[in-house]
Amino acid sequence: MLGHTVNAHTTNAHTTNAHTTNSRTINFQAIRNFSCEFASDVRDGLTRPGQKELPSKYFYDDLGSALFEVISHLPEYGLTRADERLLQRHACEIVDRLDAPVAVAELGSGSGKKARWILEAIARRQRTSYYPVEISRSALLMCQRELSDIDSISIVGFEREYLDGLLEVAAHRQRSQHLLVLFLGSTIGNFDRPAGIKFLAEVRRILEPGDSLLLGTDLEKPSAQLLKAYDDELGVTAAFNLNLLARVNRELDADFDLGQFAHVARINRQARSIEMHLESKRRQTVRIPAADLRLEFAEGETIWTESSHKYSPEEVFQMARAAGFRCQAQWIDEQWPFAENLFIAE
Ligand code: TRP
Repeated sequence: MLGHTVNAHTTNAHTTNAHTTNSRTINFQAIRNFSCEFASDVRDGLTRPGQKELPSKYFYDDLGSALFEVISHLPEYGLTRADERLLQRHACEIVDRLDAPVAVAELGSGSGKKARWILEAIARRQRTSYYPVEISRSALLMCQRELSDIDSISIVGFEREYLDGLLEVAAHRQRSQHLLVLFLGSTIGNFDRPAGIKFLAEVRRILEPGDSLLLGTDLEKPSAQLLKAYDDELGVTAAFNLNLLARVNRELDADFDLGQFAHVARINRQARSIEMHLESKRRQTVRIPAADLRLEFAEGETIWTESSHKYSPEEVFQMARAAGFRCQAQWIDEQWPFAENLFIAE
């Protein structure tokens, strides 16, 4: 595989995590100055006046990522399979709409499985570069391994948050190359509507006119179907949600009793979203030493962990315009209402 480069640009910002340092040292530091980002995010979220919350980016430790992989195979959760069907079926058509030469960046690449169809379609006509942006180092490494067999591609991973990573990609790309940004799996739906548009506008600001964004959006569907998708019979989604508390126990020495919290999925009709919560089954106290916290929960009180907004196909065209793009094409799956949308930066 001549000319094939694989390397990762990693950040030093997170070197004080549980994987690299002795956990007692971390806890001590966290108590002193909350230098551990996880501890301070947990503290902020759980001490909010009103609704307690935990940031959803912390779902994806190794166990959480494995549980999400299982969710994507559940009969009730058709989202990932719809996304993959559309990419597999329409990759050539999508790529044909782009001016060559094109390099690909992906925000939240995971294992890199979804990018494969697009990358293979591009690699058939030119050499290309793939820049996965991922906060999970293990996902990044998996992604680089998974795609290393594709000829005429160089892979440079960025262990960064989405926009920081994209800024680096933009600095890295060759002048003559157009950029195709992949933002798949309807992660956009995890922002509320105004924040989603703001995020897309920030992506647009990093791009040049003529660059493009392939955006996955989950579409509105009947409430019963939606509730099942986020509260499956086997309880995998419940385990995925509860793993967030288990992670706080593991990494911040907390004493959440997982048996005393229940996974709850709730439709929010006004926001056109489904909300995920962890509901306290009784009055209880929880200690999180590494975040210097002692928390009281009332019976029935919840921690909000994520919302997943659902869109109408037409609305996506307006979102594109509001963020400085033009939605050039849209592909909708027949089995599960989900759309792949090709935005061109204006
Ligand atoms: N972001 C995904 C989604 O909104 C992740 C997800 C699937 C999820 N099931 C979940 C997040 C349950 C929290 C709880 O579809």
